[in-house]
Amino acid sequence: MNQEVGGRSRKRKRRNNHRKIETPSIKQNATAAAAANSTVKKELPSTSTVSKSSTKPSSFLEKMKAKLSGGHFRMINEKLYTCSNSSSANIRFSGRMQLIPDSPGQYHTGYQEQMSRWPEQPVNIIMKWLKDRSSSLVVADFGCGDARLAKGVKNKVFSIDLVSKDPSVIACDMSNVNVAVFCLSLMGTNFPNYLEEANRVLKPSGWLLIAEVKSRFDPNTGGADPDSFCQAVCELGFTSASKDFSNKMFVLLYFKKKPKNNSNKEIKWPELKPCLYKRR
Ligand SMILES: C[S@@+](CC[C@H](N)C(=O)[O-])C[C@H]1O[C@@H](n2cnc3c(N)ncnc32)[C@H](O)[C@@H]1O
Repeated sequence: MNQEVGGRSRKRKRRNNHRKIETPSIKQNATAAAAANSTVKKELPSTSTVSKSSTKPSSFLEKMKAKLSGGHFRMINEKLYTCSNSSSANIRFSGRMQLIPDSPGQYHTGYQEQMSRWPEQPVNIIMKWLKDRSSSLVVADFGCGDARLAKGVKNKVFSIDLVSKDPSVIACDMSNVNVAVFCLSLMGTNFPNYLEEANRVLKPSGWLLIAEVKSRFDPNTGGADPDSFCQAVCELGFTSASKDFSNKMFVLLYFKKKPKNNSNKEIKWPELKPCLYKRR
């Protein structure tokens, strides 16, 4: 928190240091980094931009509050994208959320502000996909946020998130899941563990739906190669059913779980570029 309100040059220095440690692939290619940064800025407008056009703070105090709130959101977002929740990193669920007492609310409010700028939200496309199928399909929404998916479909949806500020988000031991959804939630550096867990709970021939920020899958701007990513998912025990790159903001990847996967081969997961917000 105090770090966020430090001087401009200190912030810039820290940002550069952070990139050196957390995103070596970006550091290696300065041009790609600049392009990547501008893509992220374009795709995920800063909260200051949002507050200027939508809810313009009138008083000095409100402006300061908006700035602090934007800073909190960026800090939590950056943590989620650049950490794993392994105990070795000492950033378990509770530890992460103890960063700032009001983190859960602030993260989701900030996230909704960002998303209000996207012309189409991937969660709506996933809702439509489900509505076109049987409502008897059981869904696990990994990283559900405000559980919008569960509220928008008739299916039984297990809504799972690091943070539960909604009573419908439950902690559960899942089995019998037909559809596993990751809607913009492959955030941690240990995202392969999330997919392994989805694979574990999914029934054979179940669906795995992934929506992710497009720049994370754009090798021209420091993102992962989508083919390497899809190959890694397939090695986990899936077949690629379809890929949709038509949206400007996000990609949608659809996989089907194979009836059986006997492979014990070690999977080479590509690094997924974190979506870092521009500091003001
Ligand atoms: C960008 S939000 C997307 C929310 C929702 N899927 C949507 O599309 O509106 C990503 C969500 O993933 C959650 N998340 C990130 N890493 C997680 C983890 N390791 N375990 C559980 N949830 C996680 C965050 O708390 C956040 O709510």
